[in-house]
Amino acid sequence: MLGGIDMDSGITDVVGSKDLDYQKIEELGRDILDSDEFQRIVGQRHHIFSTVGYHSVHVAQKMLIFARIFGFDEEDAVRGSLWHDVGIFDRDSFEGSMDTAHSHPIRSLMEAEKSGTVDSTQADMIANHMWPVTRERPKTMEGLMITIADKWCAVTEFLHMHDDRIDDVLGTADRDDREMIDEVD
Ligand SMILES: [Fe+2]
Ligand SMILES: [Fe+2]
Repeated sequence: MLGGIDMDSGITDVVGSKDLDYQKIEELGRDILDSDEFQRIVGQRHHIFSTVGYHSVHVAQKMLIFARIFGFDEEDAVRGSLWHDVGIFDRDSFEGSMDTAHSHPIRSLMEAEKSGTVDSTQADMIANHMWPVTRERPKTMEGLMITIADKWCAVTEFLHMHDDRIDDVLGTADRDDREMIDEVD
Protein backbone atom coordinates (compact mmCIF):
# COMPACT_ATOMS: atom_id res chain seq x y z
CA MET A 1 0.00 0.00 0.00
CA LEU A 2 1.44 3.39 -0.98
CA GLY A 3 -0.61 6.34 0.24
CA GLY A 4 -4.17 5.72 -0.93
CA ILE A 5 -3.19 3.16 -3.56
CA ASP A 6 -3.22 -0.60 -3.28
CA MET A 7 -0.19 -1.46 -5.41
CA ASP A 8 -1.74 -4.84 -6.29
CA SER A 9 -4.34 -3.01 -8.38
CA GLY A 10 -1.67 -1.72 -10.75
CA ILE A 11 -0.51 1.42 -12.43
CA THR A 12 -3.79 2.04 -14.26
CA ASP A 13 -5.51 2.85 -10.96
CA VAL A 14 -2.83 5.43 -10.21
CA VAL A 15 -2.86 7.07 -13.62
CA GLY A 16 -6.66 6.84 -13.76
CA SER A 17 -8.80 8.27 -16.53
CA LYS A 18 -8.01 11.71 -17.86
CA ASP A 19 -11.65 12.14 -18.92
CA LEU A 20 -12.79 11.51 -15.34
CA ASP A 21 -10.06 13.82 -14.02
CA TYR A 22 -11.18 16.69 -16.25
CA GLN A 23 -14.78 16.08 -15.19
CA LYS A 24 -13.66 16.20 -11.55
CA ILE A 25 -11.73 19.45 -12.13
CA GLU A 26 -14.91 21.04 -13.50
CA GLU A 27 -16.98 19.75 -10.57
CA LEU A 28 -14.53 20.82 -7.86
CA GLY A 29 -13.32 24.04 -9.48
CA ARG A 30 -16.21 25.46 -11.52
CA ASP A 31 -16.42 28.61 -9.39
CA ILE A 32 -12.68 29.22 -9.81
CA LEU A 33 -12.80 28.63 -13.59
CA ASP A 34 -15.63 31.17 -13.82
CA SER A 35 -14.08 33.70 -11.43
CA ASP A 36 -12.85 37.13 -12.56
CA GLU A 37 -9.40 36.27 -11.21
CA PHE A 38 -9.12 33.13 -13.37
CA GLN A 39 -10.75 34.67 -16.44
CA ARG A 40 -8.21 37.53 -16.30
CA ILE A 41 -5.31 35.08 -16.83
CA VAL A 42 -6.98 32.36 -18.89
CA GLY A 43 -5.58 33.61 -22.23
CA GLN A 44 -2.25 34.86 -20.89
CA ARG A 45 0.48 33.16 -22.91
CA HIS A 46 2.66 30.85 -20.81
CA HIS A 47 5.54 28.47 -21.52
CA ILE A 48 5.60 29.75 -25.12
CA PHE A 49 2.91 27.43 -26.60
CA SER A 50 0.47 27.39 -23.72
CA THR A 51 -1.66 29.75 -21.64
CA VAL A 52 -1.94 30.23 -17.90
CA GLY A 53 -5.49 28.84 -18.06
CA TYR A 54 -4.44 25.69 -19.91
CA HIS A 55 -1.42 25.25 -17.65
CA SER A 56 -3.51 25.57 -14.48
CA VAL A 57 -5.98 22.84 -15.52
CA HIS A 58 -3.03 20.72 -16.66
CA VAL A 59 -1.38 21.04 -13.23
CA ALA A 60 -4.70 20.15 -11.55
CA GLN A 61 -4.89 16.91 -13.58
CA LYS A 62 -1.35 15.89 -12.58
CA MET A 63 -2.14 16.74 -8.95
CA LEU A 64 -5.13 14.35 -9.08
CA ILE A 65 -2.65 11.58 -9.98
CA PHE A 66 -0.49 12.54 -6.99
CA ALA A 67 -3.63 12.67 -4.79
CA ARG A 68 -4.34 9.04 -5.70
CA ILE A 69 -0.74 7.99 -5.03
CA PHE A 70 -0.34 9.78 -1.72
CA GLY A 71 -3.95 9.74 -0.57
CA PHE A 72 -4.41 13.47 -0.17
CA ASP A 73 -7.57 15.47 -0.67
CA GLU A 74 -8.70 15.85 -4.29
CA GLU A 75 -10.49 19.13 -3.64
CA ASP A 76 -7.30 20.72 -2.31
CA ALA A 77 -5.36 19.23 -5.24
CA VAL A 78 -7.70 20.78 -7.80
CA ARG A 79 -8.42 24.11 -6.16
CA GLY A 80 -4.84 24.91 -5.14
CA SER A 81 -3.73 24.12 -8.69
CA LEU A 82 -6.37 26.28 -10.37
CA TRP A 83 -5.40 29.20 -8.15
CA HIS A 84 -1.60 28.82 -8.22
CA ASP A 85 -0.84 31.15 -11.14
CA VAL A 86 -3.74 33.65 -11.03
CA GLY A 87 -1.18 36.27 -9.99
CA ILE A 88 0.35 36.23 -13.47
CA PHE A 89 -1.33 39.33 -14.85
CA ASP A 90 -0.13 42.82 -15.71
CA ARG A 91 3.34 41.50 -16.47
CA ASP A 92 4.71 45.03 -16.90
CA SER A 93 4.38 45.40 -13.14
CA PHE A 94 7.05 42.72 -12.61
CA GLU A 95 10.69 43.75 -12.78
CA GLY A 96 12.17 40.97 -14.92
CA SER A 97 11.85 37.21 -14.86
CA MET A 98 13.34 36.71 -11.38
CA ASP A 99 10.90 39.19 -9.88
CA THR A 100 8.08 37.41 -11.74
CA ALA A 101 9.21 34.07 -10.29
CA HIS A 102 9.36 35.43 -6.74
CA SER A 103 6.36 37.75 -6.77
CA HIS A 104 3.62 35.91 -8.64
CA PRO A 105 2.99 33.20 -5.98
CA ILE A 106 2.39 35.91 -3.36
CA ARG A 107 0.13 37.77 -5.74
CA SER A 108 -1.69 34.53 -6.65
CA LEU A 109 -2.41 33.88 -2.97
CA MET A 110 -3.75 37.41 -2.49
CA GLU A 111 -6.06 37.00 -5.50
CA ALA A 112 -7.20 33.51 -4.44
CA GLU A 113 -7.98 34.64 -0.90
CA LYS A 114 -10.58 37.06 -2.28
CA SER A 115 -12.77 33.98 -2.78
CA GLY A 116 -12.80 33.23 0.95
CA THR A 117 -12.39 29.52 0.16
CA VAL A 118 -8.62 28.98 0.44
CA ASP A 119 -7.58 26.63 3.26
CA SER A 120 -4.07 26.33 4.71
CA THR A 121 -3.11 23.44 2.39
CA GLN A 122 -4.15 25.34 -0.73
CA ALA A 123 -2.34 28.44 0.58
CA ASP A 124 0.87 26.40 0.94
CA MET A 125 0.45 25.05 -2.61
CA ILE A 126 -0.07 28.53 -4.04
CA ALA A 127 2.56 30.43 -2.05
CA ASN A 128 5.37 27.89 -2.32
CA HIS A 129 4.88 26.30 -5.76
CA MET A 130 8.02 27.96 -7.11
CA TRP A 131 10.30 26.28 -4.56
CA PRO A 132 13.31 25.87 -4.77
CA VAL A 133 13.48 29.07 -6.87
CA THR A 134 11.82 30.75 -3.90
CA ARG A 135 13.39 30.07 -0.50
CA GLU A 136 10.48 28.92 1.64
CA ARG A 137 9.98 25.15 1.45
CA PRO A 138 6.44 23.79 1.09
CA LYS A 139 5.08 22.61 4.44
CA THR A 140 2.61 20.04 3.12
CA MET A 141 2.80 17.02 0.80
CA GLU A 142 0.38 18.83 -1.52
CA GLY A 143 2.71 21.87 -1.56
CA LEU A 144 5.69 19.69 -2.37
CA MET A 145 3.88 17.78 -5.11
CA ILE A 146 2.72 20.93 -6.91
CA THR A 147 6.37 22.00 -7.27
CA ILE A 148 6.83 18.78 -9.29
CA ALA A 149 3.51 18.93 -11.16
CA ASP A 150 4.19 22.55 -12.15
CA LYS A 151 7.58 21.70 -13.69
CA TRP A 152 6.27 18.46 -15.28
CA CYS A 153 3.52 20.43 -17.01
CA ALA A 154 5.84 23.27 -18.04
CA VAL A 155 8.11 20.81 -19.86
CA THR A 156 5.30 19.02 -21.73
CA GLU A 157 3.68 22.34 -22.64
CA PHE A 158 7.02 23.58 -23.97
CA LEU A 159 7.18 20.38 -26.06
CA HIS A 160 3.72 21.32 -27.41
CA MET A 161 2.05 18.12 -26.13
CA HIS A 162 -1.41 19.65 -26.25
CA ASP A 163 -4.57 17.96 -24.91
CA ASP A 164 -7.71 19.41 -26.50
CA ARG A 165 -9.81 18.16 -23.56
CA ILE A 166 -8.28 20.93 -21.45
CA ASP A 167 -9.68 23.47 -23.90
CA ASP A 168 -13.09 21.88 -23.33
CA VAL A 169 -12.72 22.42 -19.57
CA LEU A 170 -11.84 26.04 -20.26
CA GLY A 171 -14.87 26.41 -22.50
CA THR A 172 -12.81 27.08 -25.58
CA ALA A 173 -13.24 23.90 -27.60
CA ASP A 174 -11.74 25.45 -30.71
CA ARG A 175 -8.25 26.42 -29.66
CA ASP A 176 -7.73 28.55 -32.76
CA ASP A 177 -10.41 30.86 -31.42
CA ARG A 178 -8.73 31.21 -28.05
CA GLU A 179 -7.45 34.68 -27.39
CA MET A 180 -3.83 34.72 -26.36
CA ILE A 181 -2.26 37.68 -24.69
CA ASP A 182 1.11 37.69 -26.40
CA GLU A 183 3.59 38.04 -23.60
CA VAL A 184 6.18 35.38 -22.99
CA ASP A 185 7.52 34.45 -19.57
FE1 LIG B 1 3.76 29.81 -11.12
FE1 LIG C 1 2.49 27.15 -12.78
